[in-house]
Amino acid sequence: MDRFYITTPIYYVNAEPHIGHAYTTIVADVINRFHKLMGFRSFFLTGTDEHGDKIAQAARAAGIEPKAYADRISGLFRQIWPKLNIENDKFIRTTDPEHVEVVQYVLQKVFDAGEIYFSTYKGLYCVGCERFYAERELVDGKCPDHDKPPIEREEANYFFRMSKYQDWLIEYIESNPGFIRPERYRNEVLAFLREPLEDLCISRPVERLDWGIPLPFDKNYVTYVWFDALINYISALGYPDGELYTELWPVAQHLIAKDILKPHGIYWPTILKAAGVPIYRHLNVHGYWKIDEGKMSKSHGTVVRPLDLVPIYGLDAFRYFVLREMVFGLDANFSEDALLQRINADLANDLGNLFSRSLAMTARYFDEKVPPFGSEPDSMDRELLDKAEEAIRQFTEEMPRFGFHKALIAIWECISAANKYIDYAAPWSLAKDEALRPRLQTVIRTLLEVNKIVAVLVSPFMPGTCEKMLERLGIVKKAADLRLAEDARWGTLEEWAQVSKGEALFPRVETAGKKAEKPGKAAGSQKQQPKEMKKPEAAAAAMEAVSTIDIDLFRQVDLRVGLIKQAEKIPQSEKLVKLIVDIGEERQIVAGIAKTHSPEELVGKQVVLVANLKPAKLMGIESHGMILAVRDGQDLKLVVPEAEVAPGGKIS
Ligand code: MSP
Repeated sequence: MDRFYITTPIYYVNAEPHIGHAYTTIVADVINRFHKLMGFRSFFLTGTDEHGDKIAQAARAAGIEPKAYADRISGLFRQIWPKLNIENDKFIRTTDPEHVEVVQYVLQKVFDAGEIYFSTYKGLYCVGCERFYAERELVDGKCPDHDKPPIEREEANYFFRMSKYQDWLIEYIESNPGFIRPERYRNEVLAFLREPLEDLCISRPVERLDWGIPLPFDKNYVTYVWFDALINYISALGYPDGELYTELWPVAQHLIAKDILKPHGIYWPTILKAAGVPIYRHLNVHGYWKIDEGKMSKSHGTVVRPLDLVPIYGLDAFRYFVLREMVFGLDANFSEDALLQRINADLANDLGNLFSRSLAMTARYFDEKVPPFGSEPDSMDRELLDKAEEAIRQFTEEMPRFGFHKALIAIWECISAANKYIDYAAPWSLAKDEALRPRLQTVIRTLLEVNKIVAVLVSPFMPGTCEKMLERLGIVKKAADLRLAEDARWGTLEEWAQVSKGEALFPRVETAGKKAEKPGKAAGSQKQQPKEMKKPEAAAAAMEAVSTIDIDLFRQVDLRVGLIKQAEKIPQSEKLVKLIVDIGEERQIVAGIAKTHSPEELVGKQVVLVANLKPAKLMGIESHGMILAVRDGQDLKLVVPEAEVAPGGKIS
């Protein structure tokens, strides 16, 4: 049997779970459910990271012992996952005795192999934080938390010979292209490895920090948190000789956000190599959720907590939203407005309507029973069946590579096609003529079959909705027991099975008064006020200045939607920025937007561009297209699609 093993980061117990933790853990749940649906033996691990400075400090601030503190916050994480319908197979804590034992075993093994040595380290140390700082972490030469310059300090510590593995790691990453994905993160790690890799300090003296796992070969030291934390991925499986370890480690995949790329992309493979443990298969890296385009922050009251949202918007709507809205690998902005729009458009309108229309007609014309196909399928039926098969195909292809939004787009294309099919097939007209009854049977049956396939395909994302849909289609099955090969087969609904219409799957959510109030922010206050419009006369004059053109001339312009994948300023120019834009293929475009748009904010944006412009050279750099923008006084605004569309989408 094919196997699959997915892990999330183990979360620090110094903060309560928020949307960032929830996203990663929901993604792991979705990918785990997907593999079960494909018939894999699949295992999903999450947990909490409980040792180290940060936790000891947080416990001190709370006035309790670190273990009691860790118990409390770890409990919050453990409790929240079932409420989000997350079904992890194991929850590991780094304070579990089994884990501690494995960490010490690995340390001893690497030490015995001569890959850990003792040496002195000189660095900048903040007494307040009780830790060393790298120069680049300081703000104006001071500790950012204590606003004091650190002191020079020398400390004897244990070091892991990480530098020794630099060339091996580069070679490994280069010969295993999908090892770190998406590619931008692989490139980031490779760029990092272009600089000399230093050895890793893996200990802390007990007198400075005693909340950690003691080194087995020196009781005066505890191990550095990363050496402790990363090992959870194997200790949870019973390394070195547990059955789960033997079964699952060869197919291990990690899931993290970009913040912890370095420990996972560099420390972890080299530790594994030194310990003689095979390397994991894939590191899957996603971007960051931002709020109002900025970092989530406690002091600004912008921490989004899933349990504040779920009672208002619904659990499955929340799960769907985060998976649909974020392009895996890129940052995404969270806003309740965007969540509302998706609920009303994608869920209430598209999916909800399809389902309720299909069942309402089954009730009206066939007494709430699944009719057999009555006539041979015509081209319209076959087209819809093709759409359903295409959705299955894309789902099967995109999910294993974490292309969730693409899988969902494909499912929704099928849903839209089915809604259109209803309009064209017009069952209400067929129902007027008894002679057309066999055709009516086929139309309704076709619709019910599509609904069933959709229910199966959305099952990893929205298990609750899937079960509701199946039940109303007369199928008694848990989402977790579905198998794509059997359950998404066309024509397998039971003839004359009883269906039931039930309530709307996703009631529309009204904008007003439905928002979760954030601390320090009135409901709805984050909605942007429209800026003052330009004077109408000016706009009218601008229109007149343009003479009219023929539609054919317009059609010669190939306008496309593109996704900016890379952006960098052109050093000698104030205005120009070099972009790599995905329009189904990658395009290099030089755009004069650097004064108003930083490269960071451009990456991940969808834009509109002229794709068939003659190539030109700007400051010696080739440009293969032009990005559209509107001048607004001093400002320049990019023209963007109303909602995200597949890159390369043609504008007409
Ligand atoms: N304890 C370490 C991980 C050790 S793994 C061996 C740690 N913990 S953490 O609590 O800070 O969790 C970091 C992870 O939380 C990120 O990698 C990501 O999975 C998730 N997120 C936290 N904030 C996030 C966003 N704003 N957006 C998306 N995910 C983020 O690092």
